[in-house]
Amino acid sequence: MKSDAKKHSLTESPEFPETWTRVLDDVLPAFVKERFSPSESWKKKPFDKEDVNFFSKGLIELSEFFTVERDGSKLPNYFTTARFRSSYFLYFFGLQGAKFLTLFDRYPKAIEAALSHATETGVFRVVDVGSGPGTASLALLVFLLDGLRSADRRPLTLPFSIELVWIDQNGTILKDGEILLGKILELYPEITGDVRAILDDRSWWKHPKDFGFNASLVLFGNVLNECPDDPRIFQQGLAPFLRDPKGGGVLLIEPAFKSASQRLAGIRNELTLTQDPLIPWGPCLHAGTCPLTEGRDWCHFSIPAKLPGSFFKKFSIKLGGIREWLKFSFLWVATRESKKAATPPKGWVRIISDPLRTQQGLQNQVCRPERFTYVKTPHRPFHRGDIIRDPLLPSNPSTRRN
Ligand SMILES: C[S@@+](CC[C@H](N)C(=O)[O-])C[C@H]1O[C@@H](n2cnc3c(N)ncnc32)[C@H](O)[C@@H]1O
Repeated sequence: MKSDAKKHSLTESPEFPETWTRVLDDVLPAFVKERFSPSESWKKKPFDKEDVNFFSKGLIELSEFFTVERDGSKLPNYFTTARFRSSYFLYFFGLQGAKFLTLFDRYPKAIEAALSHATETGVFRVVDVGSGPGTASLALLVFLLDGLRSADRRPLTLPFSIELVWIDQNGTILKDGEILLGKILELYPEITGDVRAILDDRSWWKHPKDFGFNASLVLFGNVLNECPDDPRIFQQGLAPFLRDPKGGGVLLIEPAFKSASQRLAGIRNELTLTQDPLIPWGPCLHAGTCPLTEGRDWCHFSIPAKLPGSFFKKFSIKLGGIREWLKFSFLWVATRESKKAATPPKGWVRIISDPLRTQQGLQNQVCRPERFTYVKTPHRPFHRGDIIRDPLLPSNPSTRRN
């Protein structure tokens, strides 16, 4: 994990876990071929150029659903189609997983809080909402198991059982993900312990009465964007998760679109309205309301990244070019117990725009409660996601932290 001083900057992606590359290059292509090839004779053959051509047709179509800003709540239930499920595994799984892995790496204290909760309760329960094939929680599993493996104790026994609770409206993608989980676990023969997926096939915001949240971490990956922005969904669906989260809290990652980002900002503002407000692990460095809830600008990040996976690369070329950026908006809500750990460092502020041409010359926007201010862009420019010493504090020159 990165040093403490680096953790708040959102301008650099991490090195991805070694096993993540094996998942993308070995496990997923073989799994997709075995499960989705139309011809029996193809199933056991190695994944090759012909397969890239074959599977990229569905990928190009699916990508059109996702790439343009639109009312996501009107998307069809695309995972009912095998063509789209297979292409999701071959490309979007790697892309989405990389965003989660970047934030797991960037917020080590949140992960520690989740692990402490698991140690206390004996279960590391990850509730993955709108899980699809469990992308976010499988990325977390690889992150954790690679961490354990690097501790270099053999044989390794998990200190708690791991339950990945996957909630999705599409039962077929949940089953696909469960099979994939088994294949990923085969990459860790030296690790023993109970790891299982619990499949919950339903609309995520209609919680049954007996649904126990006691989760060490709750993950939402690109799912709000597919649901209407309706106060009922907030009240029935999100509020129960956000009332009194445990462990590592609730991490929501959404597309970098304006509508998706401003929706997260709205959720963040709801948190500030309660008597005992929750504060975020990130991206905000203050506990006040978000200055980008409305208006022309919105809070999102574009992180340059060397994304692993040789097939991932081939599929991204099919979509128009090698993917070099991770673009997303996010909100990671901390628990009340973690308030102290999540409190941002004093005297630092986050840059929330790239350099902008203004009447005063090149400037960057700086995030502050309720409004943003500007700071002059220095010779080595600030970028969206940087954190700098607060230039409004008398003794602070506007220096960067990384
Ligand atoms: C873009 S996919 C994201 C999947 C996964 N979280 C990821 O990051 O790769 C969105 C998922 O949300 C699910 N979804 C959309 N609306 C839902 C709803 N109302 N209830 C449950 N799942 C829903 C879809 O079926 C799909 O699996």
